Amino acid sequence: MFVRTLLLNCGPMVHFSSADALSPPNYENTVSPIGKGIIIEKDRIIKIGESSELESEYGTQSGHRIIDLNGRAIIPGLIDAHSHLLWSGDRSQEVRWRLEGKSYRDIGAMGGGIQSTVNSTRQASTEHLHQEGYIRLREALRSGTTHMEVKSGYGLDTETELKLLDVISRLGSDGDLPSLDPTWMGAHDVPHGMNHGDYMDALMGEQLPAIVEQGIARSADVFCEPGWFSLENSEDILRASRSSGLELRMHIDEFESSGGGALAAELKVQTADHAYHTPLDERLNMKDAGVLTGFLPGTPYAMGDTWPNMDQIHTHNIPYTLATDFNPNCQTLSLPFIASLMVQRCKVQPLEVLAAMTVTAAQSTPHPNGEHGIIKEGGLANLNILDSPHWESFCLKPSHSPFSATVLNGSFIAH
Ligand code: NIG
Ligand code: FE
Repeated sequence: MFVRTLLLNCGPMVHFSSADALSPPNYENTVSPIGKGIIIEKDRIIKIGESSELESEYGTQSGHRIIDLNGRAIIPGLIDAHSHLLWSGDRSQEVRWRLEGKSYRDIGAMGGGIQSTVNSTRQASTEHLHQEGYIRLREALRSGTTHMEVKSGYGLDTETELKLLDVISRLGSDGDLPSLDPTWMGAHDVPHGMNHGDYMDALMGEQLPAIVEQGIARSADVFCEPGWFSLENSEDILRASRSSGLELRMHIDEFESSGGGALAAELKVQTADHAYHTPLDERLNMKDAGVLTGFLPGTPYAMGDTWPNMDQIHTHNIPYTLATDFNPNCQTLSLPFIASLMVQRCKVQPLEVLAAMTVTAAQSTPHPNGEHGIIKEGGLANLNILDSPHWESFCLKPSHSPFSATVLNGSFIAH
């Protein structure tokens, strides 16, 4: 074991500062010029300085691992602030139905969609789910993700929801994988064979108390969308969850505007995601209430829907995060792919895109052990080393990882 790791001869380093979470980052204050070095001890960055100075101060001491980056660029560890990581099954055949013009709702009614994944997930063993989760998290790490928010929601009964959260907790404590922020999402759909009212009773009377007793979910999430959970139902579940000590998140306005943004603002939830059809007045209410917007461009990419309207977001300086929404219908674990969609399809500057999956995402899903999403002395040593002298390359390789290495909680992982 090494006492310290020295990263020397860094290329440009996008470090960000906490202030960049809620306002557009300024290039000069955000990107360090080439020639810096970083000293890492345990899971922390203990020093950032001129590479040559750090080399003469620390380079001769024994027990140090010295890594010459040769001018490769550095960005913070990526933070995936919205994922449905854990489920079993395969819905690939739905692509044909989608291309025949069937909507997400139609596909659900045909026996596909969330319900179909629920059936396979209920049948899967804990070990199988753990194995799937492990493989997926290795893949995410390969793409630079060092932390991920993960929802349950493919069990829809107490036993399977607890099982999913238990596997999430085991995966999250494996130090070789990205750290995880667990969310209970029993309100993802109403299970087949149950009427809406009975499921609402089961959610609040049985699932929520069992999840709270188990004690490993930090937040609750609700699919607030006509046809799934109405505004009233969503509000009941969210208020009950908050009374039980959980933080709140929402899926809103994915297919149509239905007042989810107003409810998100009223309840001051941590983040309201999808939000493609949210009207401007609700967006402004969310901003005033300190509610983040979570855009998930992988979903419209997979479904052929329209991209988020970024003009409004820019005009009103609305803080937002970007995440994968990894789920059976949108199977990407790559934030660099999401970044490429935003840069190349939505014409958003790479620095803004990067902030949305690092420093702003850290507000949506904080790390339990310290500051992440930025590179600073005293912060967690979670960062990515690009295979390029240009940090912008993180969003220009959608089909393979742009990183040559990732530092995860202080451990150097060569890819
Ligand atoms: O966020 N929209 C709701 N939930 C997921 C998709 C779930 C599924 O299709 O399995 C989402 O996109
Ligand atoms: Fe989602």
